[in-house]
Amino acid sequence: MTEIAPSPDWTIPQDWAHYSPTDHRVWDHLFDRQTRLLPGRVAPEFLDGLKRLDLTRPGVPDFARLNDQLVALTGWQVVAVPGLVPDAVFFDHLANRRFPAGNFIRRPDQLDYLQEPDVFHDVFGHVPLLAHPAFADYMQAYGQGGLRALEYNAIARLSRLYWYTVEFGLIRGRDGLAIYGAGIVSSHGETHFALDSASPNRLGWRLDRVLQTPYRIDDFQQNYFVIDSFDQLLKVTLETDFGPLYQRLADAPDIPIATILPDDPVFTRGDQSHVATSRQP
Ligand code: PHE
Ligand code: FE
Repeated sequence: MTEIAPSPDWTIPQDWAHYSPTDHRVWDHLFDRQTRLLPGRVAPEFLDGLKRLDLTRPGVPDFARLNDQLVALTGWQVVAVPGLVPDAVFFDHLANRRFPAGNFIRRPDQLDYLQEPDVFHDVFGHVPLLAHPAFADYMQAYGQGGLRALEYNAIARLSRLYWYTVEFGLIRGRDGLAIYGAGIVSSHGETHFALDSASPNRLGWRLDRVLQTPYRIDDFQQNYFVIDSFDQLLKVTLETDFGPLYQRLADAPDIPIATILPDDPVFTRGDQSHVATSRQP
């Protein structure tokens, strides 16, 4: 393969015409599987976004078309990148209401597990909520916060907020808990696990608590944090100056991953059985 020097913002043309019939079939397969499972489990704002953005059309979405709708709704747009991009580049995109999406799609033998986010995770998982005003504002604020966190050397800490909200967040719904994080919504296995498994803790979301909680990247989560609403998430993160928080937490030890604190609001006390069995030889 030839190494191509990235543009300064790492974007590349999506080149929609390059997707093969197999690529489109993989998208359709994943799309159908998830949209059958999601009603009743996902935040209604997510399904609303899918509809308003016309994402129910078959095949890998054409970003140009998608952006016509998205720009009109919230001023966000999707830009294509080859894969993961450096932190500063990622934050700068978000701070300017651009969501960088991997433009490749997984192979048919990788439907359930992938190391790098592809276009299905990035677009199906992340983009529907960008059509929702409060969530759209939160994502931009996160990008601005990320640029600030670089100066405080606090990226590792801030990433926990992203992980436990944007990727693996739960929200209180009218009839119990619902999923909204892209890492759950784009995963068949975790869509079940996050709501139904007896294993993980499901705890009320509190900003400083989350910033002190490590996470797993190699398996289903041991903790999920539950927000009351997207307005709550936006308000708390906007109104908190993270500078003093980073300084205070710099000397605080992490909370061991499966520990429940006395002041945690507990929705579910997990038995952590998934971890116990999956660690056996
Ligand atoms: N208010 C945060 C700060 O002072 C910025 C931020 C907003 C961070 C939203 C994350 C999410 O850095
Ligand atoms: Fe993601």
